[in-house]
Amino acid sequence: MLSAGVLALVGCGTKTSSMSSPDIEKAVAKTLSGMSLEDKVGQMVQINLTVLGKGTGADFVLDEDALNKVLVDSRVGSILNCPDEAVSPQRWQEILAAIQERAIGVNGIPVLYGLDHIHGCTYVTGSTLFPQDVNVGASFNPELARRAAEVTAYESRACSVPYAFSPTIDLTRIQTWPRIWENFGEDPLLNTRMGLAAVAGYQGEDYNHIDQNHIAVSLKHYMGYGGPVSGKDRTPSSITKPDMREKYFAPYKACAQAGALSIMVNSSANLGDAPFHCNHEYLTEWLKEDLGWDGVLITDWADVNNLYTREMVAKDKKEALKIAVNAGIDLIMEPYAVDACDLLKELVEEGEISKARLDDAVSRILRMKYRLGLFENPLQKFEDYPLFGSFDSESLASAKEGIVLLKNEGALPIKEGKKILVCGPNANSMRALNGGWSYTWQGNADKFSQDYNTVYEALAKRFGSSNVVLNNGVKWDETTADWQAETIGNIASVVAAAKASDIVVACIGENSYCETPGNISDLSISKGQQELLKALENTGKPVVFVIIGGRPRIINSFVEGADAIVDAFLPGNNGGDAIAALLSGDDNFSAKMPYTYPKAVNSLINYDYKPSQQSSTMSGAYNYSADASSEFPFGYGLSYTTFEYSNLTASAESFTPATSELKFTVDVKNTGSVAGKEAVLLFSSDLVASINPDNRRLRDFTKIELQPGETKTVEFTLKPSDLAFVGTDGKWRLEEGDFRIQAGDQVLMINCTETKIYDTPNI
Ligand code: BGC
Repeated sequence: MLSAGVLALVGCGTKTSSMSSPDIEKAVAKTLSGMSLEDKVGQMVQINLTVLGKGTGADFVLDEDALNKVLVDSRVGSILNCPDEAVSPQRWQEILAAIQERAIGVNGIPVLYGLDHIHGCTYVTGSTLFPQDVNVGASFNPELARRAAEVTAYESRACSVPYAFSPTIDLTRIQTWPRIWENFGEDPLLNTRMGLAAVAGYQGEDYNHIDQNHIAVSLKHYMGYGGPVSGKDRTPSSITKPDMREKYFAPYKACAQAGALSIMVNSSANLGDAPFHCNHEYLTEWLKEDLGWDGVLITDWADVNNLYTREMVAKDKKEALKIAVNAGIDLIMEPYAVDACDLLKELVEEGEISKARLDDAVSRILRMKYRLGLFENPLQKFEDYPLFGSFDSESLASAKEGIVLLKNEGALPIKEGKKILVCGPNANSMRALNGGWSYTWQGNADKFSQDYNTVYEALAKRFGSSNVVLNNGVKWDETTADWQAETIGNIASVVAAAKASDIVVACIGENSYCETPGNISDLSISKGQQELLKALENTGKPVVFVIIGGRPRIINSFVEGADAIVDAFLPGNNGGDAIAALLSGDDNFSAKMPYTYPKAVNSLINYDYKPSQQSSTMSGAYNYSADASSEFPFGYGLSYTTFEYSNLTASAESFTPATSELKFTVDVKNTGSVAGKEAVLLFSSDLVASINPDNRRLRDFTKIELQPGETKTVEFTLKPSDLAFVGTDGKWRLEEGDFRIQAGDQVLMINCTETKIYDTPNI
């Protein structure tokens, strides 16, 4: 249980969960009691590394005056970010040693250093980069999320960096949003399962005593960030309260309850609500009070400042700080100025921020530092991490499991001895395979990944360089900072090369980008690529599209003409080899779409659309109809083998809310001639409900491996409350009536015989 003192601090009465441990609380209280007001406000501020020194990458040097100003005069307790690009583990050790020594010398409190270690150690040269989380979502295998996080934690500690701004568990509901690829897809359950696995991987088994091989997480970006109405980064969503609780909150709730040590807040607002950074209901009530969560709420980049410069809910920085901290913010990612320290001090002295709120925020930060063992071990030794950089085989296996086969009319697998033309802007680019958050923020740093193979290089290795020809046709213009700029080369020469080949592999999609620079206004694939694909259609040669990119760019007019389509998303440093292994048939595909791939720019939808969004024509004066069309639906993915589903059963045909559990079984048989893995997804549909029910919802999933001819029985267990939804009054409801249950092509009906309205916000 939380100690009485902590209960008083968090002001959450009896609604707490038992999260902390007595030794931690004792240490926090002791340290807090010895701190001055200056010490306390300094703990609440996080500053960017570049404020502490000059130079880029390996040339970065810390500056004595800056160190003194930030860490000694202002007593800042947290630092983030890199010197603009990745540096070696040894350099990180030097930077961390200098920072920790200075900070501990002032008041004995170590600095909390955080980095965007998103798919591996983004900012450390020689580290293991895994596929991005969109690929992990597509794998439907949470163990891959856990293991990538665990390796990242190990390699991060090898640099003495104890804190990652990861995992990202926003539901990616609007396909134009530039941050789709940082998340596990559009579904709440998928993000929940993957998020939980990642938290376990990063933090280890005991979040109160994180060991020297694990680090703290920051879930992000709390919440609804992936549903911007305009599709642009950091712009408002329009999410109903029921959906906010039922869908967007779900992964955060589960991961907070599992002990995630910190959560980063959504930079924007939900229409009709206060911006997230000053939203007391979402920050304090839902998270801290209702869940009894005792972790750290951190702002996103400069988002206190954005309350008065962009969101226009405060007149100046002081007012912005006041409303953010009183809403529940604990740690302020500034990132460039230390003036927040003085302003916070004034606000406390003037009584605008209470001493109790100040002490609560500071206790949370100290608790995180104690939980991380930073007081005892602020630094680790690189020599104690001999496995640093040695996990590429796991990254390769993960990449193979997160690439989806969307169409195959016999072009794949490519047979031995075939002449292959590799074209398209992503044919020979490491940058495109890795995406953003790879050595630099925008991922534009191929110099760090030269030891790895691009798709062209990997295919040349696999099929023999004399059989594989590279002719991009369209290239990204790397001379400009605009990631979208492309140069269209001699398309006629590509056509000639195609004619001289047996098969064409067109590596299309997007170049790397990150956050706001990735905003687009047209989801169609780029003009140059359209020209290239059109030309390829007329060659009469089989064409395989390998889509590499962070979001689903529209390719509808070319789908019919393609002989095979593969969506590789952002498979990371080992992605080229993974693609070659899959195209050659050395390995089998087993991924499924983690989001809905749209067909047309004005037809963006998610798989859990409402029944009225898909209806056949009702003849009459107006011929009403609706079409929830998609190019490739959520959960879709092919294999080199085939699977047959049969015998879907339910433990009972009817149930009540008090029924202890609902069990379902289904048989899955490998009916093809090669071994394969199959993600088995269980969906439910509430056929009639008091607010428009969702068409269907993912309720459980598992992944199995089957040899040719082999059958396995898969069992799923649900609680009746797993089928509940949130009503207009914000309360969970399980209503009487029929539910359709579906796995593969198997369908059955079960009936709930009573309605229950739940009293608690979190069931
Ligand atoms: C991003 C966050 C990131 C933070 C720190 C922000 O701009 O939105 O995802 O963790 O910067 O780099």
